[in-house]
Amino acid sequence: MSCHFALTEVTNCFIPQVMVIIRQDVKILMYPKNQLAVHCLLPHSCHVLQESLLSSASGYSNYRGILNWCVVMLVLSNARLFLENIIKYGILVDPIQVVSLFLKDPYSWPAACLIIVSNVFILAALYTERRLAVGTISEMTGLILHMFNLTSLLIFPSATVLSVPSMTPVGGVLSLGVYTVLFLKLYSYQDTNRWCREIRQAKAKRLTRSYSCPSVAQSNGSAVHAHVTYPGNLTHRDMYYFVFAPTLCYQLNFPRSSRIRKRFLMRRLFEMWMVPTIQNSMKPFQVPNHLIWLIFFYWFFHSSMNFVAELLQFGDREFYKDWWNSETVTYFWANWNIPVHKWCLRHFYKPMLRKGINKFCAQTAVFLVSAFFHEYLVSVPLKMFRLWAFMGMMAQVPLAWFVSRFLNGNYGNAAVWISLIIGQPVAVLMYVHDYYVIHYGGTT
Ligand SMILES: CC(C)(COP(=O)(O)OP(=O)(O)OC[C@H]1O[C@@H](n2cnc3c(N)ncnc32)[C@H](O)[C@@H]1OP(=O)(O)O)[C@@H](O)C(=O)NCCC(=O)NCCS
Repeated sequence: MSCHFALTEVTNCFIPQVMVIIRQDVKILMYPKNQLAVHCLLPHSCHVLQESLLSSASGYSNYRGILNWCVVMLVLSNARLFLENIIKYGILVDPIQVVSLFLKDPYSWPAACLIIVSNVFILAALYTERRLAVGTISEMTGLILHMFNLTSLLIFPSATVLSVPSMTPVGGVLSLGVYTVLFLKLYSYQDTNRWCREIRQAKAKRLTRSYSCPSVAQSNGSAVHAHVTYPGNLTHRDMYYFVFAPTLCYQLNFPRSSRIRKRFLMRRLFEMWMVPTIQNSMKPFQVPNHLIWLIFFYWFFHSSMNFVAELLQFGDREFYKDWWNSETVTYFWANWNIPVHKWCLRHFYKPMLRKGINKFCAQTAVFLVSAFFHEYLVSVPLKMFRLWAFMGMMAQVPLAWFVSRFLNGNYGNAAVWISLIIGQPVAVLMYVHDYYVIHYGGTT
C-alpha cells in the first residue's frame, strides 16, 4: 500500500532541498521553488507521483551515459577495423621518409608549401602594425599596406591552386581554408590594434577596458600570464599565439585556463583520431551526407578546437551553442559556428549597424560575404565555377524570413533540420555531379 499527496505540483526537479520527517510514517520533502510533497511512509509504500525520466515534464537533462554509450559503440565498431589494418599492412608511415621526400621534391607537396609561405603574410601584418605603433608610417599608409596584404592573402593562394597542376582538390581546400582563416584573423588583428591606437590617442583610460584591451580582472584565471598593454602585444610570440588559437577575433589578453588537463587533452586527441577512422570505414554515398556533416561538426568544433584550446590554455571554449534547438534560421547561423559568427558581429555586422545601415541590409551583406567565401573554398580547389555554394548561402536570407514569418516552435526547428538534411547535401551533390561530368565524361 502506498500513498502520496502533492501539496503543489512537483516538476522540474528530483532533488529535494529539505526533508522533514514529521511523524514516523510521514515525511515532507521541500523542492526548490518552494514545492512541497508529502510522502506517507506506510509499510510497503513504493509509489510516488512522478514523471518518467525521458518525458520533458520530468525536467531531467543528464544524458552523459548516453553519450558514453555512443563513444563505446564507436570504439568497439572501429577497433576491429584498426586491428585488421595493422595486421594486414603494418605501420606504413615512416616520418623520416616523408620529410626527405618533402625536401627533395617540394612541388609534389604544393599545399604544404603554400601553407608554409603564409608566414610571409603574417609577418607583413605584424611589421606593419609595429610601424604604425611607433608612428613611422601614417594611418592611411598602414591601411593601404594592410589592404594589400589581405587582398594578396586571397589572390595568391587561389592563383597558385589554379595554376599548379599537382594540386589536388583536397590540398586546395586545406590550403585555401588556412588562408581564409588567416585572412579573417589578420583583418581582426589590424582592426583591434587600430582601436587600441585610437584609445591610446584619446588618452581615455576608462575606455581602454571597454573594447578589446581587457583589464587584469577580466582575464579570469590568467594570474600566471602577464597582462599585456598596447603596443607591448606586437611581438612574434603574441602574433603566433593568436594565429594558432581557436578564434578569429584578436584581443590583447585572451582568457587563459590555469593548466593543461592531460586527461581532457587525451580524450579529445582520441576523438580526433577516431572520427576520421569512422569516416574512412564508411563507403561514400552509402552513408547520408548529413550524417557525415554531423560527425564533422563534432570532430571539428568539439574535439579539435578543444584539443588546440587545451594545448594553448585558451580559456574561451564557446565554439558552438545549442544550434540543434534552432527554431529560426538566423538562430542556427548565429550558433553553430561561434568563431565565424563572433567575427561577423564584431568586424562587419555591428560596424555596419553603427553606421546606420538597417538590420536587413546588414544581415544580407554578412550572408553575401559568407556566400563568397563558401564559393571560394569550393570552386577554386575543384577548378570549377558553378555558384551552387554561393546560391545555397544566399538562399538562407529568404529562408530565414519564411521560417520566422510562418513557423515557430517545433515547426521552426523541423524546418531548420529539413534545410540541413536536404539543402546542404543537394549542394554537395551538385558539385560532385559536375566534377564527375567534367573529369570522367559523365560516367559516375
Ligand atoms: C548576420 C548575423 C551576424 C546576425 O546575427 P544575429 O545574432 O542574428 O544578429 P542580431 O541582430 O540579433 O544582433 C546581434 C548583436 O548586434 C547588436 N545590435 C543590434 N542592433 C544594433 C545596433 N543598431 N548597433 C549596435 N549593435 C546592435 C545586438 O545587441 C547583438 O549584440 P550581442 O551579440 O552583444 O547581444 C548572423 O546571422 C551571422 O553570423 N550570419 C553569418 C554566419 C555565417 O555565415 N556563418 C558561416 C559558418 S560556416
